[in-house]
Amino acid sequence: MKVKVAILGCSGRMGRNLIQAALEHESVELIGGSVRDSSPFANFDLGELAGIGAIGQKTSTELDNLLDADVFIDFTSIETTLENIKWCQSHNKALVIGTTGFSDEQVNEIKSAGRDIPVILAPNTSVGVNLMFKLLEITSKAIGDYTDIEIFEAHHRFKKDAPSGTAVKMGQVIADTLGRDLNKVAVYGREGITEERSRETIGFATVRAGDIVGEHTAYFADLGERLEITHKASSRMTFALGAMRAAFWLSEADNGYYDMQDVLGLK
Ligand SMILES: NC(=O)c1ccc[n+]([C@@H]2O[C@H](COP(=O)([O-])OP(=O)(O)OC[C@H]3O[C@@H](n4cnc5c(N)ncnc54)[C@H](OP(=O)(O)O)[C@@H]3O)[C@@H](O)[C@H]2O)c1
Repeated sequence: MKVKVAILGCSGRMGRNLIQAALEHESVELIGGSVRDSSPFANFDLGELAGIGAIGQKTSTELDNLLDADVFIDFTSIETTLENIKWCQSHNKALVIGTTGFSDEQVNEIKSAGRDIPVILAPNTSVGVNLMFKLLEITSKAIGDYTDIEIFEAHHRFKKDAPSGTAVKMGQVIADTLGRDLNKVAVYGREGITEERSRETIGFATVRAGDIVGEHTAYFADLGERLEITHKASSRMTFALGAMRAAFWLSEADNGYYDMQDVLGLK
């Protein structure tokens, strides 16, 4: 049976790819998509938005028009997602969150929504990236205690948060595996006289340029050798198809708070 999905923020860069992915996915039925009240894309054809020609389904400015959907997929903004969670809780709808940049407090708010609805928080829905998280865990266990660990990420010029949600998650996976508190050991950029690097730290470096879809590398560097684990996304469709996989998985899940590692059976 197909899972009925609605896409929140369907006029965005990810939203347009999500429409295309939903229409291509054999286990998904697209019910509709939301845009802001003031959006130039209000009452706009979803297929036109995705660049694949009219399909006769229009965007909606009211979530109440999307009640036929079982799973909502949200790639909007922090403020909008936090409002959408409340709506999903009060209407008993499952929610896949792709939006990034939440504070620890906001993540706790999302976690507690898992008491009422099935919710996935997935700062990166690519299958390759989530496999990379597993590789980081294995690598940290093997050599993390004696190597210098640095995380590099690059994204397009329009990205609003830094470091990326994926880079932070990479740091979190490594810190958790090594028993370190990321809030204490993270170093976000360096400038001036920084003194020698302390072994415990996990460094983050960010590039914002052009149309880079998303690149992430973790360095595990010793004297004489270094291991680099890299993921490069070349199309947003990889995130969109991963989000469909998450939506399908979530449609069969109990109420609770999940991530992509649950979806992919990597736990
Ligand atoms: N999880 C992943 O794998 C992944 C991958 C890529 C990006 N992301 C994250 O996904 C989010 C969106 O990224 P993006 O590149 O697609 O950004 P974007 O192009 O700015 O898209 C966001 C969309 O959300 C819409 N929106 C905001 N508030 C809304 C509301 N109240 N109702 C309806 N629509 C609303 C915006 O509409 P307006 O244009 O009218 O404001 C815009 O179309 C970011 O947090 C980004 O970091 C996650």
